[in-house]
Amino acid sequence: MEIIREVALLRRRVEEEKQCGRSVGLVPTMGALHAGHVSLIDRARKENDIVVVSVFVNPTQFNNPEDLRTYPRTEEADCEKMINAGVDIAFIPSVEEVYPEPDTREFNLGPVAEVMEGAMRPGHFNGVAQIVSKLFAMVQPHRAYFGEKDFQQIAVIRRMVQLEDFDLEIIDCPIMRENDGLAMSSRNVRLTPSQRAIAPAIHKTLVASLDFAKSHTIAETKQYVIDEINAQPEMEVEYYEIVDSLTMQPIANWSDSDCPVGCITVYCGQVRLIDNIKYTK
Ligand code: PAF
Repeated sequence: MEIIREVALLRRRVEEEKQCGRSVGLVPTMGALHAGHVSLIDRARKENDIVVVSVFVNPTQFNNPEDLRTYPRTEEADCEKMINAGVDIAFIPSVEEVYPEPDTREFNLGPVAEVMEGAMRPGHFNGVAQIVSKLFAMVQPHRAYFGEKDFQQIAVIRRMVQLEDFDLEIIDCPIMRENDGLAMSSRNVRLTPSQRAIAPAIHKTLVASLDFAKSHTIAETKQYVIDEINAQPEMEVEYYEIVDSLTMQPIANWSDSDCPVGCITVYCGQVRLIDNIKYTK
């Protein structure tokens, strides 16, 4: 595996591979890699000749400086995982390399970015659009891979791709879970043992809500999920919205969407966890 830290070298190496007719898959990450990331890499490995993984904790998408400061950084372990997963190029740049000058671009991301994470974390999605558009411009991959845990993020990235006319395929990949159902996340390492023990209640409640939803309205189902999770010690729901999976807009009735998805954010102590579930009809 080649470790590349400079944009110019990255561009040159990827261009050389493309000149030889090889397809390129990109897996953007912020490091602290876990089995969820490895599943994205595995999929990219199957579908492309060359796999590039970026490892970059992007400051412009953090609206909370403490969250940025404490975000786990584990480069050595990440490299080992990438080597084992068969990554060809690990792009691990510095902040100065990615942002030689402040990125002042404002993306017109529209309604998909205004609700849920967009409402709770002002500027977050614009920062995601900034870094992902830079990575797409640097690598110009044929395909890019994102996990469905960040369900709304994928909708925002699709919108950015449309705005910027990028010629590539966005591939969304299923959430990877621990054996007890907790969605894999780099933030899970910050949970205390007692918080880690109760955190699976999020997924369990969402699964139970599938059955509950069969005989209840959207409002009742939302309330059920919020009450069940808030009843757990140290857990507080920040939001639970049931939205259309394409527009990300909250729906009032089950018949308002062909594919409703429930998106949740829960504070487990100080740790902000997100998850989602599809209410297929
Ligand atoms: O999902 C993430 O880890 C990040 O938001 C991403 C897409 C790598 C951009 O920094």
